[in-house]
Amino acid sequence: MAAGRVLDRRDRPTCQDWGVRGLALPATPANVPWHMVTGTVAAAHLDAAGYRRLVVHAPPVAAACGPGQFVMVRAPEWGMLLLSRPFDVYRTDPEAGTLEILFKVKGEGTQRLAALRAGDPIHVLGPLGRPVPLPQDGRGVLLVSRGAGVSPMVRIAQECAQRGIRARALVSAASRERLVGIQDLETLGVTVHPLTDDDPAALRPVQILSGWAAGGEWGAVYVCGSRRLARAARDVCRAHNLAGYVFVEAHMACGFGICHGCAVPVRPGPENPTGQVAYALACVRGPALPIEEAVLD
Ligand SMILES: Cc1cc2nc3c(=O)[nH]c(=O)nc-3n(C[C@H](O)[C@H](O)[C@H](O)COP(=O)(O)OP(=O)(O)OC[C@H]3O[C@@H](n4cnc5c(N)ncnc54)[C@H](O)[C@@H]3O)c2cc1C
Ligand code: FES
Repeated sequence: MAAGRVLDRRDRPTCQDWGVRGLALPATPANVPWHMVTGTVAAAHLDAAGYRRLVVHAPPVAAACGPGQFVMVRAPEWGMLLLSRPFDVYRTDPEAGTLEILFKVKGEGTQRLAALRAGDPIHVLGPLGRPVPLPQDGRGVLLVSRGAGVSPMVRIAQECAQRGIRARALVSAASRERLVGIQDLETLGVTVHPLTDDDPAALRPVQILSGWAAGGEWGAVYVCGSRRLARAARDVCRAHNLAGYVFVEAHMACGFGICHGCAVPVRPGPENPTGQVAYALACVRGPALPIEEAVLD
């Protein structure tokens, strides 16, 4: 590992310990500590710009969920024709036994989730994927997101607040009205820089991130929700020798390594020793990949 990249990973077995490389089959899912529970919707909110936020009472999942992990959710009455849908975890409250997801209505699954109300049952499978590593050398983190991509950033910020790690966020959207998650990030002590496409005076993301990185006080960058932002973050990570992680997009049917529907290309790196682009399962190796391993172009 390069000097200055002191990162830790939670010392407990998770899906990552299946050792999936390329398209190798994982070990039996029964080995991993995720939970399949029927929880209850504790609250359903309609946030800025039409974003929906569900607070879900699912105590074992909320208690086990690390930063950057996701859940698969579905309502019991969906039947077998509509698969569970994957969502990053926005925030957890282990004492209350709740976790939150943030989403926009896209198709039938999210439409049905948007119709859920407090008290409705909801199936939750999780936590899934790898928690992201966080710096443990006193340096802070940069959180870069667009739209619903702010969701894992709030959960990462929550973890940082608990561990005393400083965080700064670049939150992007098409317009001011579409910005989401800013207040929750600020409540967690994050300094937030909103960036909107309709602001003619705005600096480019790479300029903003380069300026921040130049100070040397940040140890890692996390990006979700935009390839353009991910490429900007990758360039800044290269220029300033920062660790970077990008949440990759993939269609997911199972969420735990069985269906192989979420295969994404990965560049050669510590976990792809083939020397060429190979395929990995985003649900098991991700959802956040080291930024140098993700194919972003
Ligand atoms: C690990 C992971 C975490 C996610 N976290 C969030 C989140 O926190 N908030 C959020 O709003 N969304 C998130 N998504 C995307 C979300 O899962 C999809 O928007 C949702 O499944 C769409 O379901 P649907 O039935 O409403 O739409 P569908 O009818 O299934 O699809 C509607 C449209 O959305 C596209 N779409 C569906 N799934 C995806 C996907 N995974 N990636 C890109 N495009 C897709 C389809 O191609 C189609 O054009 C996440 C996806 C993954 C893989
Ligand atoms: S293998 Fe099924 S979603 Fe990844």
